[in-house]
Amino acid sequence: MCGIVGYIGMREAAPILLSGLQRLEYRGYDSAGIALQNGGLPFMKQKGSVGALLAAYEESPAKMVGATLGIGHTRWATHGDPSDRNAHPHLNADEDIALIHNGIVENYSLLRKELISEGYAFLSDTDSEVLVHLVDRIWKTDPSLSLEAVVRAALRHVEGAYGLCVISPRDPDKIVVARKGSPLVIGIGEGEYFIASDAAPIVEHTKKVVYLSDGEMAVVTREGYQVKTIENVETEKVITELDFSLEKIEKGGFEHFMLKEIFEQPEVMRDVMRGRVRTEEGRVVLGGIEDYLDRLKQAKRIVICACGTSWHAGLIGEYLIEDFARIPVEVDYASEFRYRNPIIGPDDVVIVISQSGETADTLAALRAAKEKGAMVMGICNVVGSTIPRETMCGIYTHAGPEVGVASTKAFTAQVIVLYMLALALSKGRTISHDEMRLSLKELSQVPEHAAKILELDAQIQTIAESFKDARNFLYLGRGYNFPVALEGALKLKEISYIHAEGYPAAEMKHGPIALIDEDMPVIFIATRDSSYNKILSNIEEVRSRKGRVIAIASEGDTEVARLAEHVIYIPQASAQIMPLLTVIPLQLLSYHIATRRGCNVDRPRNLAKSVTVE
Ligand code: G6P
Repeated sequence: MCGIVGYIGMREAAPILLSGLQRLEYRGYDSAGIALQNGGLPFMKQKGSVGALLAAYEESPAKMVGATLGIGHTRWATHGDPSDRNAHPHLNADEDIALIHNGIVENYSLLRKELISEGYAFLSDTDSEVLVHLVDRIWKTDPSLSLEAVVRAALRHVEGAYGLCVISPRDPDKIVVARKGSPLVIGIGEGEYFIASDAAPIVEHTKKVVYLSDGEMAVVTREGYQVKTIENVETEKVITELDFSLEKIEKGGFEHFMLKEIFEQPEVMRDVMRGRVRTEEGRVVLGGIEDYLDRLKQAKRIVICACGTSWHAGLIGEYLIEDFARIPVEVDYASEFRYRNPIIGPDDVVIVISQSGETADTLAALRAAKEKGAMVMGICNVVGSTIPRETMCGIYTHAGPEVGVASTKAFTAQVIVLYMLALALSKGRTISHDEMRLSLKELSQVPEHAAKILELDAQIQTIAESFKDARNFLYLGRGYNFPVALEGALKLKEISYIHAEGYPAAEMKHGPIALIDEDMPVIFIATRDSSYNKILSNIEEVRSRKGRVIAIASEGDTEVARLAEHVIYIPQASAQIMPLLTVIPLQLLSYHIATRRGCNVDRPRNLAKSVTVE
């Protein structure tokens, strides 16, 4: 989820690259850098915002002057903390090749070992740096090759996803770019060309663009561009005319960041699993906890602490870990845990979950657990934030920056991580090899199912229209869908300011049933699992009190349709997978109700994205 920009033309490149990077900052903002070509290969890169890089450039622009070709990058860390050394571009030892990269090199640790054994010195902890050394190695074996030929040869060794740009004074006046799983666009100006990870930095210069497809490479010069597949077969490209406003491009064409982030989920889910889910081998690879896995498996008890949406993910984690790994789990609000003198000791594992990695209560819970001698592990989205720095081990969610205050893609990423963790804890203990493969196969199908659910957006908009004036909502679910009911209710209240409550469906009779009348919409998560018949009875109870029922049901179900005013059908999957699917229509429903009420969904009143105070 980082941002890429490139320029080749007749103008000074540095200011163009820096302003382009500012347009891309929503894609990542923990470090930034540029490299230019003006005979040599001057570069600057540092931790912090693009603004800070711009200030550093303005202080000493001299070495960059005269360069009319360059590349730039704004980073959202995946491998290696945000730091000067981990910022892109990465250079080879001779400093005559510069490379920037988006995506994840899955086999980087293998490649890194290989290169180190050949004498290559690594200056960063990133997966990306292997790419520049691979290019260097191939070029050393045959210096007569062109830059594109060496990049092409290097990419044959790479597994994973990339959007990348490479420049070198050894083969000057060109930018070589390649794409697999991470977008790249070429902007076509008058005698100048722009490259970027999306159109945001290009649109102020030109409206004519060419989108690279997966598996394509391009060589961009001042005279033009040539696109070929990575296998070196020439391809025909169509020029597209941009008709977007800049603001819309930053939001990927969506009205709000929240909607963009909801729709990004299939892609994010793939990123979370990339290189980690090995279905065929029947195993999960979680680098950040590898050295601690035995200790985790021996835990007498796991306590999960978190706040808000992350706490809901924790509840699902409890069900998953107990179900698969048979280790007792408790879930606590971080704010309660820190003040209630909990019984915790060296046999316990405390897992803190946080999108931002900075939530004050979660951080305090982590410190309290550490003080009591527990092993502490983190599940976080922001690499290098405080929580990952203070935990002994952890798993990053790799969901990319989440801008909307109401968490959506970070939640599904957290649940996937918890699913992978539960399976990793089960391996060799509570689950057979075949069960493992089956569970991983199901998980790897989730992005596809999620994409299918997103196609129901129009139906969900119609439902939103008829319920936008409701004053209360009740969300009910059982088992794995109970935490989803809580999350659905939280999403609605956060952004639409409608009062909403989530409950385990069976608890309805102990209170909430008193609220039900013809003005009370009740959302049932009624997918087919072991409590399906029981939830049907709960729906009957609401219907007989004239409550208005919206149900989320499994495809092919006819029973629910008989009872509900609206049914949203989602693909059938096992109970453990369901939260990843059932939450999506609830996110969309909250979004569409909130926008119809004129609410500012990306910045709801009184809420903050990161709550760093008590
Ligand atoms: C705030 C945000 C929520 C988030 C919660 C926990 O309340 O508005 O969206 O779930 O903090 O944040 P964390 O970054 O720790 O997941």
